[in-house]
Amino acid sequence: MSDQYKKQAAEAAIEFVQGGMRLGLGTGSTAAHFVRALGAAVAGGLRVVGVPTSVATAQLAESLNIPLTTLDETPELDLTVDGADEIGPGLVLVKGGGGALLREKIVAAASGRMIVIADQSKHVECLGAFPLPMEVIEFGLGATRNAIERAASSLGLAGDIAVRGKDGQPFRTDSGNLILDASFGRIPEPKALAGLLDRIPGVVEHGLFINLATQIIIAGPDGLEKISA
Ligand code: A5P
Repeated sequence: MSDQYKKQAAEAAIEFVQGGMRLGLGTGSTAAHFVRALGAAVAGGLRVVGVPTSVATAQLAESLNIPLTTLDETPELDLTVDGADEIGPGLVLVKGGGGALLREKIVAAASGRMIVIADQSKHVECLGAFPLPMEVIEFGLGATRNAIERAASSLGLAGDIAVRGKDGQPFRTDSGNLILDASFGRIPEPKALAGLLDRIPGVVEHGLFINLATQIIIAGPDGLEKISA
């Protein structure tokens, strides 16, 4: 059922897309619904260009004949539409469940607006039930993990910090880095945690998205809900 809600939220986001827009294209199953809806609109004559946030999204968009560009060619975007793993108070997000958080954050930061699409289960009162993904450099992994533990501990947070695996190997991001997933359980002060993680050299980027989402579209049994920042 949640996939049906993801699809409804994604299709509702299409109404915010106008001809000539430069779009950031998110990653994950909800974002894929949006890319498919966008592909149908492009097939119907809509003219847009997209910057994909992952190899997977690029492949899907190409298969649908959505014109693609890069942030080198098109450094400023009008709108990014992406999913999230959690949406908390103040439209602070946890992202990176699909391992694309670095490119997702770069693309969102280059966009004038970011619409987050999700099923209702992602909308939470306190972030942290979903383990927080962090993209880290392999070099110095043990020291980086210790630094994350100390930063978290200073805010009263603790929990397992695991290297993400895939098929018996460490998962590699599209940029060749590793992902650490931190199971803190609750993150009541995401801005404070983000500020501390930003200062750890081995952390390339973390999955806390702050002041990036401008609107969320949530779909659930009671229909659609749109909340603006
Ligand atoms: C990708 O790295 C994530 O940030 C996704 O946005 C997130 O995992 C949401 O995925 P689903 O749309 O598949 O739930």
